[in-house]
Amino acid sequence: MLKDLLKQNRSYRGYDESVRLTREQLLDMVDCARYAPFSQNFQSFKYVLVHTKEDCDKLQPCTGWARGLPHMTLPHPGHCPTGFIVMCYDNTIGPGVERFWKDVGICAQTILLRATEMGLGGCMIGNFNPEKVRETLELEERFRPVLVIALGKPDETVVLTELKPGESFNYYRDENDVHYVPKRPLDEIIIK
Ligand SMILES: Cc1cc2nc3c(=O)[nH]c(=O)nc-3n(C[C@H](O)[C@H](O)[C@H](O)COP(=O)(O)O)c2cc1C
Repeated sequence: MLKDLLKQNRSYRGYDESVRLTREQLLDMVDCARYAPFSQNFQSFKYVLVHTKEDCDKLQPCTGWARGLPHMTLPHPGHCPTGFIVMCYDNTIGPGVERFWKDVGICAQTILLRATEMGLGGCMIGNFNPEKVRETLELEERFRPVLVIALGKPDETVVLTELKPGESFNYYRDENDVHYVPKRPLDEIIIK
């Protein structure tokens, strides 16, 4: 079950915009992140939930997509996320954001696994300007955006493939816009 969920939990860059996410759905995802392990149990992240069309339209231009496909502009027009969870470091909790970079991924993956279980999907977006996002969301100075999680009902196909020796690890798309993600085989990532 968990392995199936992990395989289904891909980075999606195309969504059905007619399926609008609700604040309740986003709350449910963040509720799951509360159970994630956290360095020294600081729990220094706070979350901004974005789901109205107006707010999604404001945040979308702050996000950068698919650096591995520089010739494409993704998401395609009319296929943008219908929700975002913006993870922020609360600088009043703990010694500074550097201490918590590992925790970012753990909380984000927890949120995405819950989204996948709900029949939704998303994409972690690290390619953004924290100041621009903070201004766009009108956040207090103490909140530093550390990761944007785009969410919605995926309407594109993502296929996992096994990376063969000598092949590139870059993801790619075919003429039908099917997105392929090569993963290194198990024996290649085991040192001993
Ligand atoms: C920390 C992190 C930041 C990422 N930032 C971006 C991003 O800014 N834009 C984007 O399109 N994808 C981003 N991704 C998605 C990766 O490109 C994606 O995970 C990778 O291509 C493998 O695909 P998969 O998630 O389907 O396995 C990010 C992933 C991670 C883990």
